[in-house]
Amino acid sequence: RARGDLAGRRIVITAGPTHEPVDPVRYLSNASSGKMGYAIAAAAAAHGAHVTLVSGPVSLPEPAGVGVIHVTTAAQMLEATQDAFATADAAILAAAVSDYRPEQAADHKLKKAAEPIDNIALAENPDILATLSQSRGSRVVIGFAAETDNVLENARKKLATKGCDLIVANDVSRDDSTFGSDTNRVTLVGPHDETELDCMPKEQVAEKIIERLHDLLEPDEPL
Ligand code: C5P
Repeated sequence: RARGDLAGRRIVITAGPTHEPVDPVRYLSNASSGKMGYAIAAAAAAHGAHVTLVSGPVSLPEPAGVGVIHVTTAAQMLEATQDAFATADAAILAAAVSDYRPEQAADHKLKKAAEPIDNIALAENPDILATLSQSRGSRVVIGFAAETDNVLENARKKLATKGCDLIVANDVSRDDSTFGSDTNRVTLVGPHDETELDCMPKEQVAEKIIERLHDLLEPDEPL
């Protein structure tokens, strides 16, 4: 594929986990490393796209040629992603957004002796993928489904309920495709077809996703 095949295209990508504060020094989160989303951002930029990467807290270098917006919480990620999507052609949402946040974050460090925590009341976070998909019009939206059980079944459900174009289904129960690993084993689940890919480095998975994005953006263009 020609390297400049996404020239002129604007793509927003989310990556990494979110941190949902309990107090100024504690948070709820998950084990996402951000590697998959960063690899997709790098691949899209290498294909000539104008890329905005909305990143949760990760310890990865910013990919060359990519505009990075650093956020912490799901609410911040939603706002930054919606802003960038307003002028974009496509969104690829690879972030592992925390499903819940503490209903109230304390404004000071909670002290074990004085303010013991025996439970944390949770509120549900906004679903960025579902929100963008609802108002996508002709724009392309690609989501992920990281699962430990019934991976394909869940991915098919997600494709339908969220209303996106493609779900990248990811079995995170295996050592070679889990959070933090450098390889991934995914199936691309579309409304009419499912493509199971071999286990490969996340950079190569990213290339496959970008190839599919290209086809979704220009379905009539001959290969
Ligand atoms: O529902 P679930 O979290 O499994 O869906 C995963 C997909 O939805 C991923 O693409 C993820 O980035 C996206 N998502 C989101 N906002 C959320 C939860 C998930 O964009 N609050």
